[in-house]
Amino acid sequence: MGRQIWKPGNMLYPLPAVLVSVADREGRSNLFTVAWTGTVCSDPPMVSISVRPERYSYHMIEETGEFVVNLTTEKLAYATDYCGVRSGRDVDKWEKTKLTRVSGEHVRAPMVAESPVNLECVVTQKLELGTHHMFLAKVVVVHVDDRYMDKSGRFCLNDAKPLVYSHGRYLSTGRELGSFGYSVKKRPGGKATGRKVAPKRGKIKR
Ligand SMILES: Cc1cc2nc3c(=O)[nH]c(=O)nc-3n(C[C@H](O)[C@H](O)[C@H](O)COP(=O)(O)O)c2cc1C
Repeated sequence: MGRQIWKPGNMLYPLPAVLVSVADREGRSNLFTVAWTGTVCSDPPMVSISVRPERYSYHMIEETGEFVVNLTTEKLAYATDYCGVRSGRDVDKWEKTKLTRVSGEHVRAPMVAESPVNLECVVTQKLELGTHHMFLAKVVVVHVDDRYMDKSGRFCLNDAKPLVYSHGRYLSTGRELGSFGYSVKKRPGGKATGRKVAPKRGKIKR
């Protein structure tokens, strides 16, 4: 038993696989799958997507400097894969996937109505890194599906069952193990809770 040394490669997993929707100046739109995406700044809120210039969608992002990041869910797994293996050059992916196109507030790229969260993005910078060009973009509007709002007005994204992409496979998100900061959270009396795993949702005493 040991650890193998591999040649340098991309092994940062799991990742979200998002559906990115784009449009050209004439209003033709397309969507494609992106796993090389990330949050890069909190304020201003910014994301990145890395795109190969040969993608049909690439010129649309170049033309308008805009795109929408649509988060994906278990239910959207099939469409997410399909949009990542077929090109808008050859097929109308909106028609094939039966996804619903809705207008955003700010950018001309349409949004995917079935997605629980849509981020309208405006490109600020392009970095030509190699195989992929990274678009850095400001998030200018966030849309959330109010089906996932609880009674107290909290947005429960995880109830939408976000899709995970890991080492070539699509997975669902598993059981909740804790919430942000739970490892240092104190009991009302002052002592740390000592829990390695947070109690199941619904059993947390507040
Ligand atoms: C799970 C998954 C993740 C992908 N991630 C990326 C990515 O980060 N960047 C990219 O350029 N292409 C990525 N692709 C490939 C494109 O989505 C694919 O080439 C697509 O057909 C391009 O569509 P278009 O030609 O209509 O623009 C991914 C594909 C899959 C299935």
